[in-house]
Amino acid sequence: MSSPSPKPFKNPRAQYDFKGRTCSIVSVGSYVPERVLTNGDLEKMMDTSDEWITSRTGIRERRIAADDEFTSDLGAKAALRAMQKAGITADQIDLIIVATITPDMPFPSTACLVQEKIGAHRAAAFDLEAACSGFIYGLEIGHQFIMSRTYDTVLVIGAEKLSSIIDWSDRNTCVLFGDGAGAAILQNRPDSHGLLTACMGADGSKAGLLSMPGGGSQCPATAKSVEGRLHYLRMDGKETFKNAVNAMLHAAKEVLKRCEIGADQIKCVIPHQANRRIIDAVTDRLGVESERVFVNLEKYGNTSAASVAIALDEAVESGRVTQGDLILLVVFGAGLTWGAAVIEW
Ligand code: UT7
Repeated sequence: MSSPSPKPFKNPRAQYDFKGRTCSIVSVGSYVPERVLTNGDLEKMMDTSDEWITSRTGIRERRIAADDEFTSDLGAKAALRAMQKAGITADQIDLIIVATITPDMPFPSTACLVQEKIGAHRAAAFDLEAACSGFIYGLEIGHQFIMSRTYDTVLVIGAEKLSSIIDWSDRNTCVLFGDGAGAAILQNRPDSHGLLTACMGADGSKAGLLSMPGGGSQCPATAKSVEGRLHYLRMDGKETFKNAVNAMLHAAKEVLKRCEIGADQIKCVIPHQANRRIIDAVTDRLGVESERVFVNLEKYGNTSAASVAIALDEAVESGRVTQGDLILLVVFGAGLTWGAAVIEW
C-alpha cells in the first residue's frame, strides 16, 4: 500500500477563535444484526443471480434485523459499543442525534427511544433525515453544538432497518439494501483528531429519484396506499447512479480544497457503500488507488445512514486508519442529499 506523503494541511476552521475549544471524534462503534441474507438466498426467492448482483453492485450478502429488533435497538447497540470504547457513561451524554430513514415509528423520534434504551436520561434527543448522507450531516451538527459550547458530549448515530421498507417483489431494489447501525461520540477534548471540515448539499428537485411515497402527510396510509405498494422504497437506479457519482466527486473535491490538500494526502477514503461501481468511478476520478479506499459493502449492502458509520468503525478496528491519518468521508442519498468530510484521526 502506498503511503500518503506527509505534506502540511490547512484546518479551515483554525481562522476562527474558538478560545481553546476543540471537537474530537473520541470513538466509533457499530452493530449489525446476526441474520445473514446471501445472494444465494435471494436466488431462491426471486428471479436474480449471484452473478448479476455481484457484478453490478459488489454486494454478496447483507444483514437482516429480527422481527422484534428495531432501528432504535440497532442504534442503541452501536452506541453502547462507542460509549464503552470512549470510556463514558450514559449520564455524560448531552445530546443524541439519530440519522435514519427507517425510524421505529413516525413519532416519537428514534433518538428518544435510543435515549431510554441506553439510559442517557440527561440528553436532548432528535432525529435527522438526510437519508444515506445522514451520518455526515449528524457529525457536522454535533460538531457545531460542541464548538458553540452548547454541549460537551454528543452521540451521533446512523441506524437503519431498511428491510422494513424494502419491496421484496422488486428485484431492482431489494437486493441492494441491508440493516445495521454505527455511532460516534463527539467531545470537547484536546485530542488531535476531529472533523477538519465538512460540506453538505441537497437538491430537492430530484426528490422523486429515490423515495418512499406513502405514510406521510401527502399520502397517509390507506388500504389503497398499501395496495399500491406506496410504503416501500422506490428508486430510479440509473439516474440515481449518475447523480451519486457527480455529487460525491463534487463534495470530495470541495473539502479537499478547503483543507488545501490533494487526494494523495488522504490515508483512507470511506465512501457511502451503495455500489462498488459508484465507489470506483468516484475514487478513480479523484486519483485514489483502490488500496486507499475502504469497502465493506460486499458484507452489508447499502445500509443508508449507517453505511459510513459502520465502515469508519471497521476501518479503525482493522488498523486501516491510525492516529494522525487524514480520512475522507463522502456520501450521497435520497433528497437528493450529499456531503463530504475530512477527519484528522
Ligand atoms: O444509497 C442511495 C444511493 N443509491 C445508489 O446510489 C444506487 C444507484 N444505482 C445503482 O446502483 C444501479 O443503478 C443498480 C444496481 C440499481 C442497477 O444497475 P444497472 O447497471 O443500472 O442496471 P439496470 O437498472 O440498467 O438493469 C439492467 C438489467 C435490467 O434488465 P433489462 O431491462 O436490461 O432486460 C433489469 O431488469 O438488469 C435487470 N435487473 C436484474 N437482474 C437480475 C435489475 N435488477 C436485477 C436483479 N437481478 N436483482
